[in-house]
Formats: sequence, structure tokens, C-alpha cells
Amino acid sequence: MPLAIVRTVADLRAQVAAWRAAGETVGLVPTMGALHEGHLSLVTLAKSRARRVVASVFVNPTQFAPHEDFDAYPRDEARDAALLQGAGCDLLFAPGVAEMYAPGFSTTVTVAGVSEPLDGAARPGHFAGVATVVTKLLLQCGPDLAVFGEKDYQQLQVIKRLVADLDIPVEVIGAPTARAPDGLALSSRNAYLTAAEREIAPSLAAALLDAIERLRKGTPVERVEATGRAALERAGFGRIDYFEVRDAASLAHLGPGPLEGPARILAAAVLGKTRLIDNMAV
Ligand code: PAF
Repeated sequence: MPLAIVRTVADLRAQVAAWRAAGETVGLVPTMGALHEGHLSLVTLAKSRARRVVASVFVNPTQFAPHEDFDAYPRDEARDAALLQGAGCDLLFAPGVAEMYAPGFSTTVTVAGVSEPLDGAARPGHFAGVATVVTKLLLQCGPDLAVFGEKDYQQLQVIKRLVADLDIPVEVIGAPTARAPDGLALSSRNAYLTAAEREIAPSLAAALLDAIERLRKGTPVERVEATGRAALERAGFGRIDYFEVRDAASLAHLGPGPLEGPARILAAAVLGKTRLIDNMAV
């Protein structure tokens, strides 16, 4: 039997209600499709924690700026559905834009603080689009838990903040970043890389690992950040949006000098026409 697909909030709610009536727990894995091993690891994690797993596939227009890749974003529902089924997913929620944003739609969820630096500064409006659609998906599905990848670390912190602030009764779980054998973080956007760019791309993860090593040795944060940016330039990256060490939860700037508490190092840089992001725990 192929994976069941629902396209309306009413049908999603009916299925979740039936599972709840049978005493079953529900996990949600929100995605924009173009699935890869990283997404499937989120489904596997959700399935290990909940009896039923819903994955959503919705390329959310409100999180893309007009000049970004909304139109070009890869879409292949049949492939996604087959992969989800293989990973143990129970239901695919694949709404159209009109189902998610009915005429007259006027509400935006904005999360101050944690959504402002880094990608918030580089992609104005992006996290408002993410926060709004994730709030809707959580309210539409009403899961016990929802799994998001640490690959989008700032997004994960934004979602944890909004769930706490809005008292949404769901456990938000962060899943480790899945990587290619050469270290490149898996991403749907890796499909845009040319063969030559794909050779260069693992330098991003390598620069983060090198930065962690330097921080461990007590090198001051600013020097580590400057060395990381220089390494990316040398490797062939173009615009570097950020290469920064931040507080692991608030993403606030850390004081000058050697590192003292739990931190996260985050980077975003453009390779050819593709913007890559990655991050690691320090
Ligand atoms: O990480 C993503 O794929 C998206 O930002 C999300 C969380 C599905 C919201 O559209």
C-alpha cells in the first residue's frame, strides 16, 4: 500500500484524532520535501519516540525572499512519499499554498531576539515565515513531539522559543546533522552544486572543525572567526554571510577572549549560486 497522503487540515486532523482515539502518540516531521538521508533520520527519530509519524511537505513561500529560490526549489512528491514510507512514516501531509494561506491571511509570528542575528540578518523576513508556518503545522497536527534538524540550528532555537512562548503543548526535538562521508552537511540545496563546487563544499565543515580545535586551545573568539572566514575565502567561497561563535541557546555574541561556556559555531557562505549553512557544537 502506498503511503497515505492528505492535503487538507480537516483530513489531517481526522486521521490524528483517530490515532488519538486508539491511544496512539503522534510525532511530526515538518519538511519542504526534496528529501535526503538527513530528513529520513528525523523520521526514524520521530518513529522511535512516537507510535505514529506524520511528515509534512510544503515549500513555504513566506520564508523565501523574492530573489531567492522558491520557484527553483526541487519538488518531487512521488519520490518523497516513497522515501518517507521506507523510513516508517505513517502519513504525508502535503497541503497546497491555498490550504495554508487562505485569502485574507494576515497573521505573522515573529520571534524577537534569537531570530535576529545570523540568518535573521542575512535573510530578512525568513524566520517570520518559518515561525508562522511551523506554528500553523503544530496547531494543525497537534503532535506530541516534533523533530527538526540541527543543521538549521538557528531555526531550531527559534522554534523552541515560540513553542515555549505560545504554550504549544509539543516536545521539540533537535536531531544531529547528517553528513556525507567527506563531512558536507546534507541539504536539499546541495543539488544545486556543480561537480567543481561539490569538491569545495566540504571545506565549510572542515573550517568549523578547525575553529573548534583552535577554541579548545584557548584562541580568542575573534581570531578564530577571522581565521575561519579567511579559510573559506581561500577555499573558493564567495560572499561569507557569517562565521561566528555564539551562545548555544540565545545565539548572543560572546565576549572577547577565550571561550568560557557552551557555544555553537555557525557559518553561512555562498559557493557559486548556492548558499550553504552549517554549524557545530563547541
Ligand atoms: O527546515 C525546513 O525544511 C523548513 O524551514 C520548515 C521547518 C519545514 C518550515 O517550512
